[in-house]
Amino acid sequence: MICQENDIKKILFSKEEIKARIEELGKQITEDYKDAKSLLVIGILKGSCIFYSDLIREIDLPIEIEFMSVSSYQDSSMSSGEVKIVKDVGTSVALKHVLFVEDIIDTGFTMSKVMEMFKERGAASVKLCSLLSKPDRRKVEIPIDYLGFTIPDEFVIGYGLDYAERYRNLPFVGILDESVYL
Ligand code: IMP
Ligand code: MG
Repeated sequence: MICQENDIKKILFSKEEIKARIEELGKQITEDYKDAKSLLVIGILKGSCIFYSDLIREIDLPIEIEFMSVSSYQDSSMSSGEVKIVKDVGTSVALKHVLFVEDIIDTGFTMSKVMEMFKERGAASVKLCSLLSKPDRRKVEIPIDYLGFTIPDEFVIGYGLDYAERYRNLPFVGILDESVYL
C-alpha cells in the first residue's frame, strides 16, 4: 500500500521497468568507457539521487563520484535561462571524462549550461545520462547520450523527482494528479 497513491494519476514506469532499463544503461556506459583512463560520474542533486545510486552500481568500471546542486532561473523575456551553482564538485575536472546524471531534461537549460561550464573547465569529455526526457518542452537543443525513457508533457514525480519536495521516495515514476496543485 502506498500512502501517497491518491495523488498519482497514472504510473508510467514501475520499479521493475526502471530497474531493467538502468541495467541496460549501465551495460552501455560500461562498454563505452571501458578504455577510458578515468570516469567521473556527477549526480545533480537532489532529483537524481535514487537514479544515480542505482545506476553507478550497474557500471562495471572504476569510477569517481561527485555531486552538484544547481538552481535555474528562467525569464521568459530572455532567450536562455540562468544557472547558479549552489554546490560545486570538490575536485578538478581537467582531463577527466565527465558523465552527468540527471533526473529529467525539460527545457534543457540547466544541463546545457552546466555542460558548457565543464567543457570550459577542460574536461576530456562531457556526456549526459538522464532518467527521463520531455522533448515537447525543449527550448535548447541538448544531446542526451544515455536516456532512460521519453515521456509526454506531464508533471511527473517519484524515483527522486519531487513536487514541492514530496514524493521523491516513491519507487516508481508517475504522473501527479492535477488536484494536488490546482
Ligand atoms: P530544465 O531542463 O532546465 O528545464 O530543468 C530540468 C529540471 O526541472 C529537472 O532537474 C527537475 O528538477 C525539474 N523538472 C522538470 N520537469 C519536472 C517534472 O515533471 N517533475 C519534477 N521535476 C521536474
Ligand atoms: Mg533537478
